[in-house]
Parts: sequence; structure tokens; C-alpha cells
Amino acid sequence: MKYGHFDDANREYVITNPKTPYPWINYLGNEDFFSLTSNTGGGYTFYKDAKFRRLTRYRYNNVPVDDGGKYFYIKDGDTVWSPGWKPMKTDLDSYECRHGMSYTKFKSAKNGVQAQILQFIPLGFWGEIQKVSLKNTSSEVKKLKLFSFIEFALWNAEDDMTNFQRNFNTGEVEIQDSVIYHKTEFKERRNHYSFYSVNQPIQGFDTDRESFLGLYNGFDNPDVVNAGKPKNTEAHGWSPIASHYIEVELQPGESKEFIYMLGYVEVDADNKWESKSVINKKPAKAMIAKFDTVEKVDAAYNDLKAYWDNLLGKINIQSGEEKLDRMVNIWNQYQCMVTFNMSRSASFFESGIGRGMGFRDSNQDLIGFVHQIPERARERIFDIASTQFEDGSCYHQYQPLTKKGNAAIGGDFNDDPLWLILSTSEYIKETGDFSLLDEMVPFDNDASRAKPHFDHLKASFYHVVNNLGPHKLPLIGRADWNDCLNLNCFSNDPNESFQTTGNKKGDTAESLMIAGLFVVYGKEYVKLCNRIGKNEEAAEAEVHVNNMIEAVKSHGWDGDWYLRAYDYYGKKIGSNENEEGKIFIESQGWCTMAEIGKEEGLVEKSLNSVKEHLDCEYGIVLNSPAFTKYYIEYGEISTYPAGYKENGGIFCHNNPWIMIGETMIGRGDAAYDYYTKIAPSFLEEISELHKVEPYVYCQMIAGKEAFKPGEAKNSWLSGTASWNFYAITQYILGVKPDYDGLSINPCIPSKWDGFKMTREFRGATYSIEVLNPDHISKGVKQLIVNGEIVNGTVIPILEKGKTHTVKVVMGK
Ligand code: BGC
Ligand code: NOJ
Repeated sequence: MKYGHFDDANREYVITNPKTPYPWINYLGNEDFFSLTSNTGGGYTFYKDAKFRRLTRYRYNNVPVDDGGKYFYIKDGDTVWSPGWKPMKTDLDSYECRHGMSYTKFKSAKNGVQAQILQFIPLGFWGEIQKVSLKNTSSEVKKLKLFSFIEFALWNAEDDMTNFQRNFNTGEVEIQDSVIYHKTEFKERRNHYSFYSVNQPIQGFDTDRESFLGLYNGFDNPDVVNAGKPKNTEAHGWSPIASHYIEVELQPGESKEFIYMLGYVEVDADNKWESKSVINKKPAKAMIAKFDTVEKVDAAYNDLKAYWDNLLGKINIQSGEEKLDRMVNIWNQYQCMVTFNMSRSASFFESGIGRGMGFRDSNQDLIGFVHQIPERARERIFDIASTQFEDGSCYHQYQPLTKKGNAAIGGDFNDDPLWLILSTSEYIKETGDFSLLDEMVPFDNDASRAKPHFDHLKASFYHVVNNLGPHKLPLIGRADWNDCLNLNCFSNDPNESFQTTGNKKGDTAESLMIAGLFVVYGKEYVKLCNRIGKNEEAAEAEVHVNNMIEAVKSHGWDGDWYLRAYDYYGKKIGSNENEEGKIFIESQGWCTMAEIGKEEGLVEKSLNSVKEHLDCEYGIVLNSPAFTKYYIEYGEISTYPAGYKENGGIFCHNNPWIMIGETMIGRGDAAYDYYTKIAPSFLEEISELHKVEPYVYCQMIAGKEAFKPGEAKNSWLSGTASWNFYAITQYILGVKPDYDGLSINPCIPSKWDGFKMTREFRGATYSIEVLNPDHISKGVKQLIVNGEIVNGTVIPILEKGKTHTVKVVMGK
């Protein structure tokens, strides 16, 4: 069952039934200021950091789900309704929510009144605009009462949800003209306030939540709206809100527009006050003046559209398969930008309080957006690298506001350092900019400990070399990519966190996943060293990479697949000898991508085993059989019910590793089949089961051993976005930036006749047509660039500012 449809021409998903199986959300904002918006008006806003600078409140796991947000109430006679359906949930004559590229639009109607809302954050602006249009489509004069509603959070979202003995006393507001200012705690250490304005005179307001709603009422039954009369309350403590009241008279056919703004202001200490206890409103007024007319708002909206035209114009395909095209051309790229902005901090599954920017996560995210915003990718690489230590280890996460490592989350995840080689090498291949290797980048955010960025890569590489276990395989540390394989945490205490407890010496448990990862990025490190003339370093590093390949062959092969790990006692994990968890996806992914033992047939055998043991109707599960009891020596993985999360769930992040592995042996049908199983646009028809948005990837789909296979959770913030984009564009479609040019080596379903791609690369546009006359999956017979034959599969760097025509004929 579907709840809407794709509108590819407008790059929108159009929801036509507000009762989606879960809130289907969108993100507004692109730089410092962000909002999450659901298809019924739920969500919240923050500046830079969803924990430390939360502007509006949101209650996760609420009853009913997704209650609280930015609401409008329209009172038309005795009927009260909301354009986003919630909170009133009045039956609407029509309803439509369009989630587009950094904007959301609502269009709904009731009793001859049509309401439209456009919500977006103008580029480079610290405020969200809501353009509200009301139109009388009836033949009678309409006298409407329009109430807005937002609920201020007291800045620190965690404190906001916990420290009521203090918070209920601190709330303060000022009201002037049509602007409601929220200045809680401004007197003391804060240099910031927020405001909610509308560009028209108001006939009243409310700022005290209890007075507006009634202490025992929900958002769907507000006293003030029911009475049709504001109380003009001024909040003192308790819970400040902002609600404007406007009386709107509309002649038949007439429409009126109102521009609301939720803004954030910072003022320096000398300019905080207008007079004693009265905040300096100048900066807020200047912001309001920037967008006080429909023309100014529309111009900013057009700028936003142009911004996305440009970003999405860099890679565009025509494959003949519309579900694939809309993923590659629109939604997958869009999601990659959202993961760039949010990492794992704020979604409807990540509270904005728990997690910040992950070291491994943000590095991996980069491969999904570096082609769009290389300059910001460069900056991001330095932000991440700055949280590393001299020995290569690093904080697992850092806070976006401070950019400092978050000690509370811990470190010692031994895969972490290697992802820096991935992001750096992909950045260089995309841009050709080797200069970042020479930039001075701090260790542990301490400028006095800065070294050239190259030294960070070296530290990453040697962190593995210096931490090998009894089989000369990498020690796993707290965990590798799989946060739940906690081989050095033996916990019987429910109050301990698997993520931060390490009560065993970590000198035995080893990871085959890190081994494969090391071979892939170790080889990359060697290449980089050679490119910048560090040939001795390259030769030395190569020895370590070769040793690792040998260690995997000798101690990491189980007969039909690669082992997953050795536990604390030195016993195998992910072996046919095990009762449960006989085979795992991660080591199959990384060791096949690394092509370890390819000549001996190990890659093919491993991938056949994946097909046989891990594949199912909805994707590839993480491990099989899933664990059915708690193994103290394995940790969190065995705490999950079978078929969920890291215990036999379809962890979408690592499915593309297998897709890429399949392309290593030329099996394009298999790679694409895996792709379509988890790509959200291919799942739209089963939205009822899938539950989460059909336009973005989720982290996990319940696996074959789950209670409800196919049901997904945790949409939006997942490495799934970047890895799938990377797999489909660079390995399946096979258009891959390389140091010396653009490599084209597709591995596609044999039935395809070919496809077209336009790709910007190093300042030039490549108009590529791939033809597959013999219906094979892999192999380039002829590469013709601007009419001339090029040997091999790499197109050399061509003249900037021009469009180059590329024809690729596949064949043996
Ligand atoms: C989850 C992991 C996640 C980790 C982060 C675990 O509970 O299963 O997916 O990466 O928490 O803290
Ligand atoms: C989610 C985390 O964000 C990511 O870092 C981790 O690799 C996966 N879970 C798997 O545990």
C-alpha cells in the first residue's frame, strides 16, 4: 500500500494520506540552522547542535506518536482544523504534504478554505520561514481566526527533559509588536535568544503554555482556540510558548499571505541589552526585515531551488528504470547531504541528545557528498582528523558545536582510524587536490600538537600494524564497525553500557572485518605514498599489507567463507563450527572488496555463501543463524532479539559492501539484485510493512528470523546512504573518480542495453553513454572520448568548462 507518490519533476515526495505508518519526515536547513519536519507538522528546530542549542521542544516516544511541533489552528465558525492535519486531526476535504529538497509544503482544504504552508530555511540564514496562504474558495465571506503555535525548549535539550526543579522557574519572554522573543537564561551566560514573528499586525498572543492549552488538554484541544480568544499571557517560568492570534477576513476567491519566522540571534556581551532586562532586538528586526514580503520569501525559495539544482546537477543518470533514476538523481544524494549535516545526531530515531558526529560515520558519509561540496568535505576531514591522537586512535564522536572529542562516548574502536584514509583518498580522487596532505592538523584538538594531515593517515595505518593479535590479525579493541560485537566487554551488570565498558584486556580478540578494511585502505595508503614521492614509506607499508593478506588466508578462512573474528579466548566467531552466528556479512564484504584470495576462488566462494546463508527477500542479514541467547563474551550483539539490529537484521549499511564485492568478480546481476532489495523507492508499494519513508534509506530492516521480516526502523541517519550511492554509481554503474582521471568500468545487469550518465569531474562535464550490445555484465570493449579511442578504462583529465562526449561499448 502507498501513502503518496513520487513527483520526480519537482523532486518531491507527495504524501496524500496523513496517517502514514510512521511519521515521514524531512530536513530543512543546510548550514548552521536546521529543522526536522514531519508530514503532519511535527518536529523541532536547532542551531548547529540539537543538544546544546535546541530552540523548540520535542518529546520522543510520545503518545500519540509525533505530538508537538510547529502548528497552526484555523477556527472557522465552530470548526477548528490544522493544515498539516495534526494536531487537530479534523477530517480534511483534501490534504497534501510535499517533502522536497530542504523544504516542505502543505496544501489542504476544509469547508471552502484552502491553506498552504511553505516551510524552509533560506540559505545562510539562522531562521525558518513559514509562508502561510489562506484562500476562500467558497461563495461566502469567511471570518477566520488563525492561531500559530510553537513551544520553546530551554536550550539544552537534555536538561530541558530532566531538570524541572530549575527549568520551571527560568522561562522568560518579551512581546513587542508581532514578535515574541524567548530569552530564557539570557541574563547569565547566554549570548543568544530566539524569536517567533509574523509580518502582520496581530490581534493577540499567548506565551504561557498552560494558559493556552489548559493544563489537562492536549495539543488537539487548546482552551484558547476553543474559546476563539487569546489570553495575551506573558510567561513567567513554567513552559514558554509563542502563539500569534490573527483575525482573517476573506471575500469569496480572496487569499491572504502571512510570513512567520522562527529565528535565532547571537549578540556579543556589550550589545546584549536595550535597557535593563530588555534584550537588544535590533538583530532580530534586521532578520525579520529581510523576509517581510512574499516577494523576498519567494526569491529566497528560488535561491534554495537553484542551490539544489546545482548540487544535484553534478551526477545525473538515465537508466530507463525510473525507481533507480530517482534514487541516484534525487533522494540518495539528498540523504547523503543530510547525513553530512547531521551525522548521527538528530532524526526521529536519534534524539539529538545521545550522539554527535561519529569518527567512522562522518568519514564514511563523505563518500556520498564529496562530489557535491568538495570544499566543505575538506573542512570536514580536518574537523574529524583533529579529534585523533598521535598513536592513531581517536574519540569515537565529537560534538558539532564545539568540534571537540566527546570523552563520554569513549574510544578504542579499532576500525575508526582507517576510515580517515577512505575519506581522504576519495576527496583527492574527486578533486585532484593533494595539498590537504600538507595542511597542519591538530591532534586531540590541540593546535600545539599539529602535524601535516599526511601524518594522521600514517598514524591511522600504523595503529592497525601496532595492534595485532595472536594470529597477526587486527585487535578489535572496544568493537569494530559492528558496535555490538563487544569482545572485550564481559558484562553481567544491566547498568553498564556495552559501548563504554571494556573490562577485559584487549590483547586477544581479533577482527577479520578490520583485516579486510586494512587491506583495502592499506593499499590505498601505499598508492598515496607513491604519488607524493614517499616511496620508501610505500614499500614498507606494502609489506604490512601483504602480511595481512597472508594472515587472512592462513587464519581467516573457514572453508566456505571468511571468519568474522577471534574472541577473547581465541575461539572462532563466524565459523561453521559455531552453533549460532556461523557466518557474518562484514568480513565477507571487506575481504571480498579487498579481493583476498581471489585467485584461489575465495572471493567467489564467500559471495556464494552470502547468497546461500544470508540473503533473504528483503536484503542480506548481518549474521546467521541469529543469536537466541546471551553470550557474555560477544556482548551487545546477542542482546537483540533474533532478526533485529546487529543480530540478524538487514543492516542496510553493509549490504553495499557485498554489492561491491560482487562487482569484483563481475556479477552485475547479483549486485543489482541486492541493490533493489533495499533501495527505498523499490519498496514504496510495501510501505505498510516497511513503515518508514519510501524516499530514504533506513539503518535496519527486520531480517528473516525476525517476528516481522521486512519492517524497517531508523530511517535517514545511516552510513547506508553514502555506501549505496557509492556502490551504485562507482561500482555498478562503474563511473569512478581516480587520481589520473575518470574510470569507467560498469558491472550491470546483463539484460540492460546500457545507460546514460552526466557527471561533473574536475571542472568538466562528461556526457557518458554506455552501450551493452552483447548483454554482458562487465567488460569494456571500446572507450571513445570526443570521437577518439582511449585505451583502457580511464578517461584522462580533460579540459575544464567543457562538455566531453564519452561512449563506452561493453563487450569482451
Ligand atoms: C546500536 C548500534 C549503534 C550503537 C551506538 C547500539 O545500541 O545497536 O547500531 O551504533 O548503539 O552507540
Ligand atoms: C550505527 C553506528 O552509527 C555505526 O557507527 C556502526 O558502525 C553501526 N551502527 C553498526 O554497529
